[in-house]
Amino acid sequence: MNNLNCLDALCARFPTAFVWGVASSAFQIEGAAAADGKGPSIWDEFCRRQGVIVDGSDGEIACDHYNRLESDLDLIAALGIRAYRFSISWPRIQPTGSGAINESGLDFYNRLVDQLLQRDIEPFATLYHWDLPAALQREHNGWADRNTAYRFAEYAAIVAKRLGDRVRSFATHNEPWVTATIGHEFGHFAPGVKDRAVATQVSHNCLLSHGLASQAIRSARSNADVGIVVNLSPVSSATQSPADRLQASREDGLLVRWYLDALLRREYPADVLEYLGTDAPKTHAGDAQLIAQPLDFLGVNYYHPIVSTVARPFSPARDGAAVTDMGWEVAPAQFTEMLLRLDREYELPPLFITENGAAYRDTLIEGGIQDEDRRAYIESHVCAVADAIERGVDVRGYFVWSLLDNFEWASGYTKRFGIYYVDYATQARILKRSGIWYKNLAAAFNRTHAGASSLPTTP
Ligand code: FCB
Repeated sequence: MNNLNCLDALCARFPTAFVWGVASSAFQIEGAAAADGKGPSIWDEFCRRQGVIVDGSDGEIACDHYNRLESDLDLIAALGIRAYRFSISWPRIQPTGSGAINESGLDFYNRLVDQLLQRDIEPFATLYHWDLPAALQREHNGWADRNTAYRFAEYAAIVAKRLGDRVRSFATHNEPWVTATIGHEFGHFAPGVKDRAVATQVSHNCLLSHGLASQAIRSARSNADVGIVVNLSPVSSATQSPADRLQASREDGLLVRWYLDALLRREYPADVLEYLGTDAPKTHAGDAQLIAQPLDFLGVNYYHPIVSTVARPFSPARDGAAVTDMGWEVAPAQFTEMLLRLDREYELPPLFITENGAAYRDTLIEGGIQDEDRRAYIESHVCAVADAIERGVDVRGYFVWSLLDNFEWASGYTKRFGIYYVDYATQARILKRSGIWYKNLAAAFNRTHAGASSLPTTP
């Protein structure tokens, strides 16, 4: 088969209504950290600490997306991609996390949404991708305080009222495990707290805020699609030793079952609660019901499996495995297995793969980037999704992480995930080979599914 036929065959494995998208997040690309009344976020402040970001960088300019909005949206349109997952910066809308709306901040997202629709690109908004207004952290203890969940629901109501006439899909949180565990237990991400009891309380308050925000969005916009995005990895034990196997099942409990049981079964897993002991979160009567609001979709971010041993918790690769520039194992078959397991064990809403992609070192050769490794990663994971769909899992969309190279949190600008290369000195964008492949995939999809209707035909 030549390349085109190959892509056609791949596309035929997806339903006609399948959504192909690209993803980004506010802090990682926007820059303009203090423009038009935006308040500082915990990430603006975290970056100022010595030694926490490997290259000492910050999000002050990032990809300058705030000032390059229209030309960046042209980049999505040029791919023939019809869906864009972006996040909204809470401190642009409410600079201190509560109270009056900062209209000029909101205006940026109004323009973003209008400009997407003009290009026939569907907006998929995420309300929280880690950039909490710093004032909430400083003065109110951030997500460790239950009241932050209520502030978040107020912010969600504002966004739903003001953008919900044009945005249908709202995800409340991106990866609450990362907010809680990496931000408050490991302390590698903002706000840099290292306390397991605080981390579990944060995870509960984030889940609670998801429930409250879902209600707020739906009361503002009854036709909204409301969901949440979780990062999931299949966890296996590196050895057959009982201690390592117990460790693996705990990590699966903390990462996967904690969130999915709360969201889909109205409870936290008993074994994890027992393991946490006095570090388990303080909850109120009725919280479990509030958290388990009906989900219109579940967003799944998948990058790599986890291999655990007591000595190396949450390890992202087996010894000797092929890894990306993050040191994350490349394991598409395990992605399929994970989706099948979710489908077996839970009553799932429709799934969207809201992030998947890979960091590799890029070199510019004669103005182009031949990132065959990234292209192959994306292709193999798209195939893994097709395998899951064919085996009965209801996956409705796939979003590549990421549209642009960007600020990769504690790794600063040292890791590149984009399908467009960003030259940070000039802010030039260059489509990589992986992006050309994705563009060809979208074209093949449109061609092979042209004329097919997702609506039932009338006799
Ligand atoms: C995910 C984040 C995203 C990006 C990718 C590589 O955990 O949601 O912002 O950093 O990892």
